[in-house]
Amino acid sequence: MVWDPPVLRLLDQRQLPARVEELVCRTPEEVGEAIRSLAVRGAPAIGMAAAFGLVLGARRIGKTDPDRFRRELQQVADMLAATRPTAVNLFWALRRMMARADALLSAGTEAVVAGLEEEALAIAREDAEVNRRIGLAGADLIRDGDGVLTYCNTGALATAAYGTALGVIRIAHEQGKRFTVYACETRPVLQGARLTAWELLQEGIDGVLITDNMAGHLMQQGRIQMVVVGADRIAANGDTANKIGTYTMAVLARAHGIPFYVASPLSTIDMELASGEAIPIEERNPAEVTHIRGVPVAPEGIRVYNPAFDVTPHAYITGIITEKGIVRPPFTEGLARLFAS
Ligand code: MRU
Repeated sequence: MVWDPPVLRLLDQRQLPARVEELVCRTPEEVGEAIRSLAVRGAPAIGMAAAFGLVLGARRIGKTDPDRFRRELQQVADMLAATRPTAVNLFWALRRMMARADALLSAGTEAVVAGLEEEALAIAREDAEVNRRIGLAGADLIRDGDGVLTYCNTGALATAAYGTALGVIRIAHEQGKRFTVYACETRPVLQGARLTAWELLQEGIDGVLITDNMAGHLMQQGRIQMVVVGADRIAANGDTANKIGTYTMAVLARAHGIPFYVASPLSTIDMELASGEAIPIEERNPAEVTHIRGVPVAPEGIRVYNPAFDVTPHAYITGIITEKGIVRPPFTEGLARLFAS
């Protein structure tokens, strides 16, 4: 993601790996559509894109009276917030941006525009730093010879830099460890096959692509020593919403005595939600299930259910790897301590 005023340049993730194509967003609506259509995706990346989308909105509103500016900016924020409901980073970033706008409003709308641009760049810069710290905190968990299973895409594409779960993997690789990453393809829209496999190849990390329903078999064979996934929203008790199918991996890991880790920045932790039950789960277009890359794989007319995320109860989670270190159960106390520190 490159902020290149007056536009935001995104790598269009819908086209990968077939084509490396740039998507240029000139308006907040175009950014909103990029988020909705998964051209940009992954919890931290969605938050960053929305922040820059708000900057585009602020620039467009321009010089006007502060009340009108504030009202119109809020409309842009609301439009961006309505794009996807589950990843809390979206709301976290927009709240942070609006707070900055409010703090600057008395200095005039030009100051607000400049301040918002600074804030969006800070969000991106901090995410890159945070990714690296998550990676360093988690890399020790990976040992030579391990098989590490991961799900969805949690790499550079989903964040500002290293990634979260994939950041842990990247740092362990940089440290010279030799291990194999098993990337689940992640139906329905194949973020694992299209994006994680692509990133693993780019980084020269030993990766093996499997379909999601192979995971249990590999665990039974003793090929997996650790699971590490990302998160879209973590409740105060550690319950974790992530890409649909993550819960299945957690249950399988527990059945085979394999540690299951979640790697996530603090910006993905929603301390306002006591448990995962309150996390809104996005339902997406049935065509994602009935079609693969536009090709029908199911008969027309079949009813479809397409929840994009599931919630892994905290009891299945061995630890949450954050930029402030690894939190282990009991999570309610551990996470509260983390936020207090
Ligand atoms: O629907 P997506 O592709 O946005 O879902 C992304 C995930 O579920 C990721 O695992 C999560 O956002 C963590 S990314 C660092």
